[in-house]
Amino acid sequence: MTKNNYFLLLALPILTGCSSGQDGNKSGIAEGKGIITGNGMVVSAHRESSMIGNEILMKGGNAVDAAVATEFALAVCYPEAGNIGGGGFMLIRLKDGKSDVIDYREKAPADASRDMYLDKSGNVTNGLSTETHLASGVPGTVDGVIKAHSKYGRLPFREVIQPAIDLAEKGFPLSLRQAQSLNSNRINFLSRNSGKTAFAGDSLWKEGDYLIQPALAETLRRIRDYGREGFYSGKTARLIVKEMKRGNGIISEMDLNGYISVSRKPIETFYRGYKVITVPPPSSGGVILAQLLRMTEPFSIAEMGFHSVAAVHLMVESERRAFADRAEYLGDPDFMKVPFEKLISDKYVLQRMSSFYKEKATPSKDIRPGVPEKSLSEETTHYSVVDAEGNAVSTTTTLNGTFGNSIVVDSAGFLLNNQMDDFSVKPGFPNMYGLVGGEANSVQPGKKMLSSMTPVILESNGKLFLVAGSPGGSTIPTTVFQMVVNVIDFGMEIQEAVDAGRFHHQWLPDLVSFEKGSLDSLTVRQLTDLGHVFNVRAVIGSVNAIGILPDGKRSGGADKRGNNTAFGY
Ligand code: GLY
Repeated sequence: MTKNNYFLLLALPILTGCSSGQDGNKSGIAEGKGIITGNGMVVSAHRESSMIGNEILMKGGNAVDAAVATEFALAVCYPEAGNIGGGGFMLIRLKDGKSDVIDYREKAPADASRDMYLDKSGNVTNGLSTETHLASGVPGTVDGVIKAHSKYGRLPFREVIQPAIDLAEKGFPLSLRQAQSLNSNRINFLSRNSGKTAFAGDSLWKEGDYLIQPALAETLRRIRDYGREGFYSGKTARLIVKEMKRGNGIISEMDLNGYISVSRKPIETFYRGYKVITVPPPSSGGVILAQLLRMTEPFSIAEMGFHSVAAVHLMVESERRAFADRAEYLGDPDFMKVPFEKLISDKYVLQRMSSFYKEKATPSKDIRPGVPEKSLSEETTHYSVVDAEGNAVSTTTTLNGTFGNSIVVDSAGFLLNNQMDDFSVKPGFPNMYGLVGGEANSVQPGKKMLSSMTPVILESNGKLFLVAGSPGGSTIPTTVFQMVVNVIDFGMEIQEAVDAGRFHHQWLPDLVSFEKGSLDSLTVRQLTDLGHVFNVRAVIGSVNAIGILPDGKRSGGADKRGNNTAFGY
């Protein structure tokens, strides 16, 4: 970070008042984008969830308590992606340096089968894996966050979940952006549900209207009172199964009872001396990020310059190769041998880059037509938390599409995921993100669909340095990659690194997507001369990050691309 940036940053925080933390120190609460605080911080996609997480920190909760409170709050205030009907990955790094991944990715139900989305002629049935009850995997979020809390939490669970219950019951005012988001999905809410839902009533939403969700509050109360049983058995499980029967879905009570999240060893690699900690399969995100960082480390990106022809070319060529490996090798490690350690080894990535030419693009094996812009659909959400002691949580969680499959479990008030589309429903057939895959990611009962979620934590000299992640489907790993490069190679401060323009390549289709205005026309022309083909997208990713400054303060980066908000004290 340059000195100028640092002082600019100090001028940005909005101090909203003073309060006393449990330690008795008088400390101000800061909220907004680009804030700096001295103790704890939460950055998430919504003001309410960040505020709730920060309140838990100020009550003496640790980063995991705050993460769990934030996650449940997101299920209320950010139904686009926050969820109890979906899944995710929570990466935890404790202040003593120990780290853990809680994998609460959804699973295919026991009655799922390899060709369940194909018609009699073997063609993919349009919309079956995205818009119907059959699109849902067995949800993992509730089991995952309860596991995280029981392993690492400090405050009682009821205290941590209660703010989300209150939020669902009392409601919260909608921003213009969120009112528009709900309105644009209204037709799906109305056509895919049996009656009225909290998300689509008699009239369109306006900015400032309150979203009140009594049925969701009831479900959250059952989780508060009975823990995982409040979701995976009893009334909630019965309501889910009833909802499934209404729409020919296949999730059974046995699937729900049997869902168990797992603790996994994080992937660890290095980039220019920083330790990079991220998630292993069944997310592809950590493998891709590690490959990208190792592939580019031998080159001086800083000397090439931010968004220079040379830097974009190098990064795009790395992305092309990493995504080609994703399609071939990655899937659920509980079902097959995933050679991810080999894929991120130096020997392998160097060999992979031996076909990299500085002066021309390497065409992807099969050139396919570009996929239409789908940015509205690819909603996932990421939050980052750091507490006063230095414990950190980096979580990405999702329903897959925006509002999942738009199906609300009747009388339980929560949305179901359409995560089954993240399987390769037919080898070579692109999913909603245009990603292709093969046998490694085929549908099998009880298997987890391959994810791209990439929560990351970086250490510098053994100390916490950066917590980050993003939504964006297939663009998640490339977004996180650019975030890391922006901070480490280009020395950007956190908010600047989060807001900087982004680009993306995923092997197939053989296209470089870039955000409008992020690459100048001369750069695009010169890259086109090298053989790259471009398409413009409105938005790529939405990063929520916390950096630790040299003086130990927390610097929050809440992406300008959304209502993302940092809250800290
Ligand atoms: N559904 C988005 C992902 O897991 O990558």
